[in-house]
Amino acid sequence: ASGRKFYVGGNWKMNGSHKSIDEIVSFLNAGPLDPNTEVVVSPPALYVEYARKKLDAKIAVAAQNCYKVASGAFTGDISADMIKDCGATWVILGHSERRNVFGESDALIGEKTKYALGAGIGVIACVGEKLEEREANKTTEVVFKQMESIIANVSDWSKVVIAYEPVWAIGTGKVATPDQAQEVHDQLRKWMAQKVSADVASKVRIIYGGSVSAGNCKELGQKPDIDGFLVGGAS
Ligand code: G3P
Repeated sequence: ASGRKFYVGGNWKMNGSHKSIDEIVSFLNAGPLDPNTEVVVSPPALYVEYARKKLDAKIAVAAQNCYKVASGAFTGDISADMIKDCGATWVILGHSERRNVFGESDALIGEKTKYALGAGIGVIACVGEKLEEREANKTTEVVFKQMESIIANVSDWSKVVIAYEPVWAIGTGKVATPDQAQEVHDQLRKWMAQKVSADVASKVRIIYGGSVSAGNCKELGQKPDIDGFLVGGAS
């Protein structure tokens, strides 16, 4: 929409093996892919380099998370520098599973965003409300609060994609309707215009995630403020 290049990410979460990745890679490499769409896949960290080496250059690779410094005594974690060293160019930060299963705070997600961008890695920054928050009419309050810590840590918006992922739609088969998603994307873009700038708001890609499938993606993608998808299960 509006000159923004469509962006489709596949978030494999904690799934896959060399064997299943080989299958997906050969499918993607065989294409054809729409040249007007940026395609990114996000394997578990252990397979980032493997996938990068096998995928055609036209497909980008994202890690699913990273910490806020280059290296050090942080057992179990990885850095943006390592992601870059392994040939990937993006990282997903603030995914609802990081927020809700692993207890990551808005502040930490902001710090990670700042570090990753500084290290030269693009960030897919995720926000989204829970069902009870939507039902209490708190959707914008929640996503704007999550966005505050992100915007405070970004200077170059060309390397950031915002992913709106309502928690109630993730992995549930209960996709947001195109109107529901469009409404939040529009509110996010207007908020960005106020808080950052009209220029950034008009250029930043806002993608939708939550039970996106081959069956529902066309209709969602036709909405003016939906600039792509972050796909879990169907990817
Ligand atoms: O990051 C993508 C995601 O959380 C959506 O998952 O399985 O509902 O497509 P899914």
